[in-house]
Amino acid sequence: MRDLKGKNAIVTGGSKGIGKSVCVALANAGANVYILDIDKHEGLKTVKEVSELGVKSDFYQINVSNEIEWIDFSNVLKNKKILVDILVNNAGIWIGKDIDSVSQEEYQKLISINLTGVFLGIKHLVPLLTDAGKKTKFGSTIINLSSVAGLVGSQLDPLYSMTKGGITTFTKSMAIYFGKKNYPIRINQVHPGIIDTEMGKQVANARINQNPGMTAEESYSSGINQTPIGRLGTADEVAKTILFLSSDASSFMTGSSLVVDGGLTAQ
Ligand SMILES: NC(=O)c1ccc[n+]([C@@H]2O[C@H](COP(=O)([O-])OP(=O)(O)OC[C@H]3O[C@@H](n4cnc5c(N)ncnc54)[C@H](O)[C@@H]3O)[C@@H](O)[C@H]2O)c1
Repeated sequence: MRDLKGKNAIVTGGSKGIGKSVCVALANAGANVYILDIDKHEGLKTVKEVSELGVKSDFYQINVSNEIEWIDFSNVLKNKKILVDILVNNAGIWIGKDIDSVSQEEYQKLISINLTGVFLGIKHLVPLLTDAGKKTKFGSTIINLSSVAGLVGSQLDPLYSMTKGGITTFTKSMAIYFGKKNYPIRINQVHPGIIDTEMGKQVANARINQNPGMTAEESYSSGINQTPIGRLGTADEVAKTILFLSSDASSFMTGSSLVVDGGLTAQ
């Protein structure tokens, strides 16, 4: 299925994990994929993998919390006459500390990436998303990575939950704004449960740190036991949902939330 042929997609945090799987899924559907990440080494490997699928791909070393870097990047796109059909705001971090042990410095870092990064990406790419959207029947699309921790409280990281809850309502607010102002942009979000990535491992480590005496095996089993489907999710399973929200298959959806959590929040 190459129904995104010729579309241009920007994926933040596309070097590894869920973001990498999103890059591959979008490229398999025919989209050109531009990766924004701080990890150049892994990012270039993803570019190579994606290019081999027959689409254009490039890497830009950008910290999503830095506004100057977003402005420079949007100017690069303008100079190259690249419009943006799909923006996936995926870059995010996890701290894994409770309120007694977390510092203000860690809090500032968390919100600068998880919240400010999403705000800046949308702010600076809206003109290019608008121009791309005008050329299509159903508009361009933005997909934000929230989390189950943006729907219910996190047991391990209350500040991470604060940032993901912020994304949940920001996504809905932006859908209303784009609709009211007739911007040809749909915006939706996904809420992954525990996914087997680098961040998934950090969640398991936080469980050990906050439960003295817990072994690595017990922590891993605890994550699985919380998930009715009986296993952790894969990055590819989240990517499939993001692919759906990136395409016209989701043409009447905006301000929506898709939960990809193996039943974690069904309880
Ligand atoms: N893994 C999970 O269990 C899980 C669950 C719910 C939500 N999520 C969300 O999904 C998204 C991706 O998670 P993941 O598991 O793939 O994480 P990951 O840690 O495996 O990968 C994150 C990617 O973001 C990049 N990144 C980090 N800080 C950055 C910055 N300042 N600027 C640019 N890039 C930066 C990293 O280099 C990395 O490539 C995150 O927003 C995360 O909060 C993950």
